[in-house]
Amino acid sequence: MEASRSKRNGATEAKVSEIVARYGHDKSFVIPIMQDIQREFNYLPREALDALSASLGVPQSLVYHLATFYRAFSLTPKGKYRLSLCLGTACHVRGAPQIADHITRTLGIESGETTSDGEWSFETVNCLGACALGPILVVNEEYHGQITIAKTNKVLAALGKKVETDEEV
Ligand code: FES
Repeated sequence: MEASRSKRNGATEAKVSEIVARYGHDKSFVIPIMQDIQREFNYLPREALDALSASLGVPQSLVYHLATFYRAFSLTPKGKYRLSLCLGTACHVRGAPQIADHITRTLGIESGETTSDGEWSFETVNCLGACALGPILVVNEEYHGQITIAKTNKVLAALGKKVETDEEV
């Protein structure tokens, strides 16, 4: 158990070193480096942040401050498929709350949660800057505009989720 944890930590450190090296060990790139680390692991594991601090020569306090300050970063594991639904004003008035309820029912998780099988994460956000196309659903960085319950079902089904397809649009 201890051996497998240290093997895992070694692999994490090697991956972080590789990412830091891509940026020439330049401290001014700490945020893009953290974005790459999150992309690699789907979240920011603590051992990766510790390795980043050591490898880049920046204080752990700075790394943890950035990790908790920016909403885009997560210290807890996210699902393979990450759904962000905008509940900003423009999307709200076009029916985003009903879509949020539908996603919650379909996936069985509330906003901010991940399914126990690690497949799906769902979160609601405030304005994604594409109000004219609202309501907006982002799935793993891919934007879906003018989303409806029927379109949500199609998106989920395309990713392998069994959904009821006889819902009202
Ligand atoms: S309110 Fe949803 S994108 Fe702006």
